[in-house]
Amino acid sequence: MRKKEARLAVNIGKLKLKNPVMVASGTFGYAEEFADFMNLKQLGAVVTKTITLKPRQGNPPPRTCETPAGMLNSIGLENPGVDAFISKKLPILKKIGAPVIVSIASEGDPDEFISLAKRLDKINGAAAIELNISCPNIRGKTSLISQDPGSTFKVVKMVREVTGKTLITKLSPNVTDITEIAAAAEKAGSDAVSLINTLTGTSIDTDTKRPRIASVIAGLSGPAIRPVAVRMIWEVSRKIKIPIIGMGGIMDTPSALEFFIAGASAISTGTANFINPALSVEIISGLKKYLARNKLRDIKELVGTLKS
Ligand SMILES: Cc1cc2nc3c(=O)[nH]c(=O)nc-3n(C[C@H](O)[C@H](O)[C@H](O)COP(=O)(O)O)c2cc1C
Repeated sequence: MRKKEARLAVNIGKLKLKNPVMVASGTFGYAEEFADFMNLKQLGAVVTKTITLKPRQGNPPPRTCETPAGMLNSIGLENPGVDAFISKKLPILKKIGAPVIVSIASEGDPDEFISLAKRLDKINGAAAIELNISCPNIRGKTSLISQDPGSTFKVVKMVREVTGKTLITKLSPNVTDITEIAAAAEKAGSDAVSLINTLTGTSIDTDTKRPRIASVIAGLSGPAIRPVAVRMIWEVSRKIKIPIIGMGGIMDTPSALEFFIAGASAISTGTANFINPALSVEIISGLKKYLARNKLRDIKELVGTLKS
């Protein structure tokens, strides 16, 4: 008789995922580009590129560059806007067969979060909403919402009041104490937090003395930020009770495992999708093998098992 496979299913709020492996916002487009590389149905969930109320062209080029063990990006939330997203992108995403988590952001006015959430609340194909209050590339006059616990509480609460959909709040690592922000999101009614968004950085061409990114400051992602991400997940997991979706430099199964052990209930692949679009599916089978090898029957038995 074949041995029963370990259980990978997890719940994030009302959202039931068949496995805890998702793809991070902005690194998987609207998924259609990836259909040739894998059966997208296998994914736990797909998080869309962040959308805003109105279409955005994003920042001027150059807006990406390679760095040691990572990359900088300052895309600036290029997206077609919510109307075109719903009419053109969502019908394609719905066909995937994996839950679609729609990432939303405001261009400055926090009320835009309410308008976006109200629109998506009525849309069947949107399984959950991720509040991107942590994009470093859209900074106006003020700091990011996710850099202040009070603002985080206010925005999450406002959105919570207009939608019954599962709400995930995406946090920035560019703060002194991320646990305060996570606690504010939890108190305001967020069903989960996802972390980390990119760390701010820059890179300079010494011949031209120009920044390699037109906007000078950009977001660092990839393996370089993994130790920071794992540390923050461990800290946040000791402070809040809602599930954590972990990301930041996951490149393979062992690096994904670090996040679960630190306290994440689910993980997302990000920058690695540009190198290996099939990575998420490889991690799903890698997790099954690890659980079998360690005689664990359920991924939940691994979450938060760091011995310290
Ligand atoms: C090119 C690029 C675009 C991104 N766009 C978004 C975005 O639109 N919304 C968002 O919440 N995060 C965005 N991110 C951040 C990722 O979702 C992720 O949080 C971050 O890159 C850390 O994970 P990684 O190191 O595995 O890439 C983007 C990252 C990259 C590299």
